[in-house]
Amino acid sequence: GRVAVFMGGDSAEREVSLKSGKAVLAALISAGVDAYAEDVQGCLLKTVDNPQFDRVFIALHGRGGEDGTLQAILSQAGIPYTGSEVLASALAMDKLRTKYVFEGCGLPTPKFRTMTSVDQADQIIGELRAPLSVKPSREGSSIGIRKVHTAAELADAYEAAAALDNLVLVEEWIEGPEFTVSLLQDQALPAIGLSASTEHVFYDYDAKYLADDTRYQIPCGLAPEDEVRLQHLALDAFRVVGCRTWGRVDIMQDSDGQFWLLEVNTVPGMTDHSLVPMAAKAAGISFEELVVRILKDTLE
Ligand code: DAL
Ligand code: MG
Repeated sequence: GRVAVFMGGDSAEREVSLKSGKAVLAALISAGVDAYAEDVQGCLLKTVDNPQFDRVFIALHGRGGEDGTLQAILSQAGIPYTGSEVLASALAMDKLRTKYVFEGCGLPTPKFRTMTSVDQADQIIGELRAPLSVKPSREGSSIGIRKVHTAAELADAYEAAAALDNLVLVEEWIEGPEFTVSLLQDQALPAIGLSASTEHVFYDYDAKYLADDTRYQIPCGLAPEDEVRLQHLALDAFRVVGCRTWGRVDIMQDSDGQFWLLEVNTVPGMTDHSLVPMAAKAAGISFEELVVRILKDTLE
């Protein structure tokens, strides 16, 4: 049947999603799949009103596409779709509550607090060890994330994050290196080591999508047994959140060599700068094969 590649959407990651979606669409067409693009904007219920497709490849990032709402509507309509189902999508979109699950399962994640008002800045600076990372809980692509050292900076960063999401997460900053592990059909692909150039404080939005000086290390630079440990941790995170088919887990390593889980992405970027395609390639899986394998899992 016909496949709709859902892309664009209304989230802050719209531009990233359009790039992911176009790359996915081109790969499906070159693999001989009857596929077309659907820019999903406005009320999601419209998407299942008299649909012109039998299956959906979800290439939407962020709220409204990656967060379980769309997955619920497609489930109700009986239309198969790629990737994680409702619960895992909603949970993974919420970094704060994902951390509760990590903690509950004994998985390592940086110490954190929920912040609901600027008045808490002093208290939180006292309870956590600065520097801290301030994040809107339900955003992607590092949008709205800031590194802070003082209560005054924390208060400012809170306001900026709260403008994007009323749920704000503050966690202890781990200097890194940062690693990311892609999962495909319950298997961990080779890990990637990430380092932004010195102009970027961390692997932020510009480093992700614009800069050409961001370094991607694959092989990731860890000793083989450490990479295996990292891959197992990523797989554990993927499983406890309840993800399906594919995803990407972001992990920091501290100066003692300990790994710390940041989050799980259920619709990771698929642009030409993106990490899952890079990891797949290192495992001998072409972009086309990757996309077809993700799509095939909707048929089970
Ligand atoms: N949220 C972006 C698309 C990613 O995780 O790759
Ligand atoms: Mg994310």
